[in-house]
Amino acid sequence: MTRQHHPRPHPHAASHQPRHRLPRWQRRGLYLTGAALLLTGLVWLALHYSVGAGAGELPHPLEAWCLRVHGLAAMLGVFVLGALGGGHVPQGWRLSARWPLAGQRRTGVWMCTLAGLLMLTGYVLYYFAPEDLRPALGWLHTALGIGMVGLVLLHRRGSI
Ligand code: HEM
Ligand code: HEM
Repeated sequence: MTRQHHPRPHPHAASHQPRHRLPRWQRRGLYLTGAALLLTGLVWLALHYSVGAGAGELPHPLEAWCLRVHGLAAMLGVFVLGALGGGHVPQGWRLSARWPLAGQRRTGVWMCTLAGLLMLTGYVLYYFAPEDLRPALGWLHTALGIGMVGLVLLHRRGSI
């Protein structure tokens, strides 16, 4: 039997594989701001469309608070993403040229794209959205946000 030619991991490769951990403050910052954005976004949606302005009632007082916290978490989150852009992304790019980290490059590029679209749709929601477009834009923004959370889970390997 001849040996197959596709690349195989060296028997000891597992222990020598590059690990590309984020600095702790960046990992925590990412997960904390991400969780806050998801939570405040989802609570706002639930209130808005059940008892608030989206259901034809007066806005629920907590709606405004959800978006105040959401906006704060968004600004902090964008700061952390900026820090990743200076270190993690270029280093990760070099590490992920081929197997076993090629998937990280694919999901990483998607996350950068989604993060840009989240900032753009968030900005438009805040400064421009005409009332008739606002709900659709809000749902698009939410879908991007949930996609981003899913991608982070796919992208990282191993435990927190
Ligand atoms: C083109 C862009 C990117 C590339 C090429 C890339 C590449 C990588 C690579 C190679 C790893 C190592 C996986 C491992 O060793 O197990 C990694 C881990 C990780 N990346 Fe990225 N990445 C990119 C963008 C991002 C972005 C935008 C985020 C966050 C929104 C992110 C969050 C993470 C996290 C949380 C980990 C796990 C590391 C840890 O828990 O400390 N990455 N990335
Ligand atoms: C980097 C990530 C994110 C950024 C930069 C961001 C930014 C923003 C901004 C600036 C607004 C406008 C706030 C206002 O009108 O007062 C907003 C609204 C909103 N965001 Fe996010 N957001 C992010 C992630 C998320 C996630 C993960 C969700 C998931 C549920 C989400 C759901 C919402 C919802 C439901 C609204 C209200 C939409 C509306 O007013 O019709 N966002 N976001």
